[in-house]
Amino acid sequence: MTGLIPSPPHHPGQIFRGLAGVVVDTTTISMVNQETNSLTYRGYPVQELCESCSFEEVAWLLWHGELPTANQLAEFKLVERNRRTLGRNVTSALSRLPEDCHPMDVLRTAISYLGADDPTEGLDDRDHNLAKSIDMFAKLPTIVAFEQRRRRGLEPILPDANLGYAENFLQMCFGEIPPAEQVRAFEVSMILYAEHSFNASTFTARVVTSTLSDIYSAVTAAIGALKGPLHGGANEAVMHLLAEIGDVANVEPWLKQAFVDKRKIMGFGHRVYKNGDSRVPTMTAELRKLTSDGKSADLLATYDALAAAMLRVKDIHPNLDYPTGPVYHLMGFDIPIFTPLFVMSRITGWTAHIMEQLESNSLIRPLSSYVGVEQRKVPTLAG
Ligand code: ACO
Repeated sequence: MTGLIPSPPHHPGQIFRGLAGVVVDTTTISMVNQETNSLTYRGYPVQELCESCSFEEVAWLLWHGELPTANQLAEFKLVERNRRTLGRNVTSALSRLPEDCHPMDVLRTAISYLGADDPTEGLDDRDHNLAKSIDMFAKLPTIVAFEQRRRRGLEPILPDANLGYAENFLQMCFGEIPPAEQVRAFEVSMILYAEHSFNASTFTARVVTSTLSDIYSAVTAAIGALKGPLHGGANEAVMHLLAEIGDVANVEPWLKQAFVDKRKIMGFGHRVYKNGDSRVPTMTAELRKLTSDGKSADLLATYDALAAAMLRVKDIHPNLDYPTGPVYHLMGFDIPIFTPLFVMSRITGWTAHIMEQLESNSLIRPLSSYVGVEQRKVPTLAG
C-alpha cells in the first residue's frame, strides 16, 4: 500500500461536502498516511526531523525538497537573520490597528501590507517567490513578538542577528532566552506545525494562487482560514477549555454537560486522522518534560483525564492543537498569541505549496449543485 488515498467514485452531480475524501491534486511536499497514522515531509518522518533538525533546516527542506548542506544552511541563516527587521511603514501601519484586535488580524494585515510595500510586486517566478517566502519567514516572528509585548504594555525588543531563529524569537518576546527544554519544545512545535498537505489554510493558499494572484494575497487568505477554531484557532480554544474545566475532578461532569450541550471539544478530532494524529505523541512528550518539575501537575492531570475520557466515551483522539495549547501556556505566551505561533510555522508549508501550485497551475474552480428557488420572473414594484 502506498498511503495514497483513492478519490471516491465519481458520479455526475454527486456532492462531496467539505471535499471530504476528495483527492484534488498531487503534491511532493508531505504525505499524511491514514493507514499508518504517519506524516512525512519530503519523505522524512516528522518525528525524526524533530529529533535531528532545527526549524530552519525543515523550512529549507520544505522549500527545496532536500535537507540543506552545512554551507546552504549557513547561507540561509545569514539571509534570514538580515531580514528580521520591520520597515517603518509596516510598524506604523500596524500601530494604527485597533488596540484590542486579535493578533491574527494584525498578522493578516501585516502580510497584506508587506505585499503592498514590496518593490518586486508582479515578479512571481520561483526565485522571487522564494525570496518573498524567506522574508515573511524572517519577519513574522518580529511581528508576533512585538504583538505579545504590546499586549502587556511593554516596549518592543529588536531582533538580534547573533541569535538563531528560536532563541531570537523567544528573547524578543520575553527579554531573555528561556531554559533549553522550553526552546526545544518551541522548536518541536514549529517543526510539527510546519506542513500538513491540503489542510484548509494550505488549500486556501493554493486556490488563491491558482488564479495567478500573488504570494502575499495567498498567505493573507491562508491566515484568515487558519484563524477559525475548527483549524488553527483550536490551540487557543484548547487553553480556554482547560481553564474552564479548572480541576481534574471536573473533567467527567464538564464533559457530560458539554455533550448535552452538543459542544465540539476543541483539540479533538481530525478530518484525515481517525485513529490518532501522528504528531500528538511527540508534542505530548514535550509537554511532559515541561511539567516534570511537578509545578503544573494539575494542568497535566486534567489534560490526561480529558484525553482518556474523550477516547473512552466518544472514541475521538486529540489532534496537535491539544498538547500545543498547554505547551505555549507553560512557556508564558498569552492565549491570543497561540494561533499566530502556528502562522510562524505554517508559513513554510503554505509558501512551499504556493510555489508547487505555480509549477503546474490549473485554476481551482469546483461546481455546486443549485437547490434554490426555480427560475422566476422579476416582479414590477407594486404601487
Ligand atoms: N468534539 C466532539 N465531537 C466531535 C469532535 C469534537 N472535537 N470532532 C468530531 N466529533 C464528532 C462529530 O460531532 C461527528 O459526530 P456525529 O457523526 O454524531 O455528528 C463526528 O465526530 C464526525 O465529526 P465531523 O465534524 O463531521 O468530522 P470532520 O472531519 O468534518 O471534522 C474537525 C474534523 C473539524 C477537526 C472536528 O473534529 C472538530 O471540529 N474538532 C474540534 C476543532 C479542532 O480541534 N480543530 C483542529 C484541527 S487540527 C489542526 O488544525 C492542527
